[in-house]
Amino acid sequence: MGLFNLFGRKRINYEHKISSPDGRTVCLFALRQGHLTYSIEKDGKIVLKESRLGIKLMGEKSFGDNLTLVRLQEKTYDKSWETQWGEEHWIRNNYREAAFYLSEKTEDHRLLTIRFKVFNEGVAFRYEIPPQPKFRRLAILDELTEFRVDPHSSAWTIPAYQPDRYEYNYEKCSVYEIKKSVHTPLTIQTPNGFFISIHEAALYDYGSMTIKLNEWNALKSDITPLSDGTKAYVDLPFSTPWRTIFIHESAIGLITNRMLLNLNDPPTQDFSWVKPLKFMGIWWAMFVGEWTWAPGERHGATTEHAFEYIDACKRLGVHGLLIEGWNNGWEGDWLQNGAHSNFTEPMPDFDLPKISEYAQENNVELVGHHETVGFVDNYEKQMEDAYKYYAENGIHYIKSGYAGSMMTVYGQKEFHHSQIGVRHYQKALELAAKYHIMLIVHEPIKGTGTERTWPNMLTREGARGQEYEGGALDPSHACNLPFTRLLAGGMDYTSGIFDVTNVTKRLASTLARQLAYYVTIFSGAQMAADRPRFYEEVNPDAFKFIRDVPVSWEKTVPLLGEIGHYYIVARQERDSTNWFIGGVTDSDGRRVKINLDFLDKDTAYQAEIYRDALDAHYRDNQLGIIIETKDVTSESMLDIWLAPGGGFAIKISKK
Ligand code: NOJ
Repeated sequence: MGLFNLFGRKRINYEHKISSPDGRTVCLFALRQGHLTYSIEKDGKIVLKESRLGIKLMGEKSFGDNLTLVRLQEKTYDKSWETQWGEEHWIRNNYREAAFYLSEKTEDHRLLTIRFKVFNEGVAFRYEIPPQPKFRRLAILDELTEFRVDPHSSAWTIPAYQPDRYEYNYEKCSVYEIKKSVHTPLTIQTPNGFFISIHEAALYDYGSMTIKLNEWNALKSDITPLSDGTKAYVDLPFSTPWRTIFIHESAIGLITNRMLLNLNDPPTQDFSWVKPLKFMGIWWAMFVGEWTWAPGERHGATTEHAFEYIDACKRLGVHGLLIEGWNNGWEGDWLQNGAHSNFTEPMPDFDLPKISEYAQENNVELVGHHETVGFVDNYEKQMEDAYKYYAENGIHYIKSGYAGSMMTVYGQKEFHHSQIGVRHYQKALELAAKYHIMLIVHEPIKGTGTERTWPNMLTREGARGQEYEGGALDPSHACNLPFTRLLAGGMDYTSGIFDVTNVTKRLASTLARQLAYYVTIFSGAQMAADRPRFYEEVNPDAFKFIRDVPVSWEKTVPLLGEIGHYYIVARQERDSTNWFIGGVTDSDGRRVKINLDFLDKDTAYQAEIYRDALDAHYRDNQLGIIIETKDVTSESMLDIWLAPGGGFAIKISKK
């Protein structure tokens, strides 16, 4: 009885407030003449104005009108959980939840639940569609979800539905200008002082969300369509991904928002075999034109080169090695011929069993490679055999790739980020788990925290990485990433290029900045991406930092930053007392003062500092680096110069 009677048939206007545990963030859910809306305030200031909720269905009336509340269920949750790897060892999951069970007043009596979770750090909600009396399957035409931020806000955007997927430079614009869909995470600075990020969590079997302005100047979700124009076909019961809004008073506040992971479920199987990794690669030599992916005289993935690189891994103390271009399918124009790639047939000059045996003798983990070029039909046919083949050869890591502007699935061209794409990425991940294989996915689906449930999803690309150097990147890019793309989880940026002055791929970076990336850009697998001879010949002292820096962290403490301009972060090594600090700047040089008050009190530490020389510059003195050691304590203040396009890296350990 109870609530049904209270808010039932006659009651068409209804409001309910859900407050965050600290009481500062308040989400107001409302039914207005049967329409669903929500709005958000923090500290009494508007974050989102009244925004519409609802779902449009094929062959049915929209979901979201004519609704009445049947039942409201509320709870408070507060528990910490341990991560297997990541930016924090322990994460607190603390929120107030309200589930609104709704029913239509029309004779269909269709049912819909909207579940909100209000955290101190933001708000999440999702639609849940229970089995209905009249149907079991739905075709979703559109989600009506709005995010009504002040349109005078600034936003950092990359365009959606473009040939290079997420690989674009971030543009700062006003929300008014978001006339075409942009990807999430969408970072926004409001005129009343908030930094918010709109994104989604737990994206499974549904189109991924992009966002654009509608005719009422409200940001509205635009779910990536399938080739037939539908957004998704779903079997009931069904829940959409969580729609998430991080809310902070500073840009660096966004960095440690852990809502995405908290909104995903714990794993349901044993993943104790998952291990983060640092790896080198038969890779950058191809980008600079020394070697080729394709067979021929300059073929990179030969048995001989693999042996040389395994020896180098051993000498340099890096435990992983990626080998690309090893299988049949790279002949000619691989982007065009990808439909014929074979994932179990090595080229004749590549003896996988022999290489794998040598790698194991030398304690080097091989990272296999599957470039699908987006030909999912071709890949899925071979996927299980291909994973088995690697597993039988002792390979536990695979870098996969989906280059190509669209995926080919069931003979149709589909967006990578459509429901069909999302389903494929998940299928690959689950199959990989069956063979105890960890994935590094390039041209991926964006991160939505699912690595909590599937920790073998070690890292992904999903933004412009170092391979875009040589003209397309400027130093602001790496200062945008922490506040945008990286809010969705780790990224394989392929850091550590020491050959910064290469004529083919000249980097917009100093050498010290290459070290900084290992701290500023989190990734569950970090690449030391250059050729070994550059580490041994250009600056072996600087390489020490790459050897020392861990991949998994105890905790993360963002120190300073401004979106697109600079970013400085400290991280404590997992299960250790060592700390690492990284900093990057845009094309302006700057001096920063770093307060070390996060260190243990009354303890003597030593800091190994790798910083730009005073005359270093990303254009004409890229290699100018100073490496020095200093005694420090929690009282110390470090004064560091970052050259234009430069950066710094510091290791701090107890004396
Ligand atoms: C694009 C990926 O981003 C890159 O890392 C890879 O080497 C090539 N595709 C070839 O697979």
